[in-house]
Amino acid sequence: MAYNLLKGKKGIIFGALDANSIAWKTAERVHEEGGTFVLTNAPIAMRMGQINELAEKTGSQIIPADATSTEDLDKLVSQAMEILGGKIDFVLHSIGMSINVRKGRHYTDENYEFTHKGWDVSALSFHRVMQSLFKADAMNEWGSIVALTYMAAQRSFPDYNDMADNKAYLESVARSFGYFFGKEKKVRVNTISQSPTPTTAGQGVKGFDGFISYAEQMSPLGNATALECADYTLTLFSDLTKKVTMQNLFHDGGFSNTGVSQEVMEKFV
Ligand SMILES: NC(=O)c1ccc[n+]([C@@H]2O[C@H](COP(=O)([O-])OP(=O)(O)OC[C@H]3O[C@@H](n4cnc5c(N)ncnc54)[C@H](O)[C@@H]3O)[C@@H](O)[C@H]2O)c1
Repeated sequence: MAYNLLKGKKGIIFGALDANSIAWKTAERVHEEGGTFVLTNAPIAMRMGQINELAEKTGSQIIPADATSTEDLDKLVSQAMEILGGKIDFVLHSIGMSINVRKGRHYTDENYEFTHKGWDVSALSFHRVMQSLFKADAMNEWGSIVALTYMAAQRSFPDYNDMADNKAYLESVARSFGYFFGKEKKVRVNTISQSPTPTTAGQGVKGFDGFISYAEQMSPLGNATALECADYTLTLFSDLTKKVTMQNLFHDGGFSNTGVSQEVMEKFV
């Protein structure tokens, strides 16, 4: 169902790789709600992904940008304003990647080159994106910036590896930049802490299948899907959440506040 929540709003959506991506679902829902946007992803992902199909479907243009390159991001911001015809109302940062995870390096045996690259892509990129927007004065007042995160930032999940540290950094950047964006531009900055979700990035985590089933059984409402995450993100882009900022918002069916569920307990009796 569409509510015209984002009618007239303009934005940038990072991270739509394929139809499973949270960013992909968000782009589809933003389009349904009347928003317009530019799609962006790393040049290398463009060749792999099916982003053209999404662009056609949503009447959007694609601007390649590596989120670890300030030069790319500055260009992206100025081109997006040109294409969209003015300042920006919403931005989704939906980017994550760990080379240690990909290469099966255990947390106690990190390759720090990999760690550094993963941090640059997954965490520092959020600061870079906001710094480019801030310096270009690209955001409209009461605009909204959202990044996606995971609860491993607060609690340990052995196989989440160095992504846990990246997410802790990402959430801290949301608070720190959120202060300045709020004070100086009246823009809100939040992170959404999403349930495990079967996407390319999600499935890269070792033992993901067991993990997603565990979370499903631990969450009173069950895991939140990618589409549900898109819906929640829209509320943060809308004018209905104007004073929500510098928050890490759990979108996880109740997982984060559940000690144990009946279903999980029954496995031990
Ligand atoms: N899937 C889950 O279980 C889950 C749970 C909580 C949070 N998240 C977070 O949601 C976000 C989106 O991930 P997803 O699950 O939709 O997976 P996904 O693999 O579809 O999306 C990750 C995106 O990051 C992009 N990316 C990688 N390197 C980049 C770079 N240098 N520059 C620009 N973009 C780059 C990829 O191309 C891809 O589009 C990530 O931040 C992820 O950590 C995912």
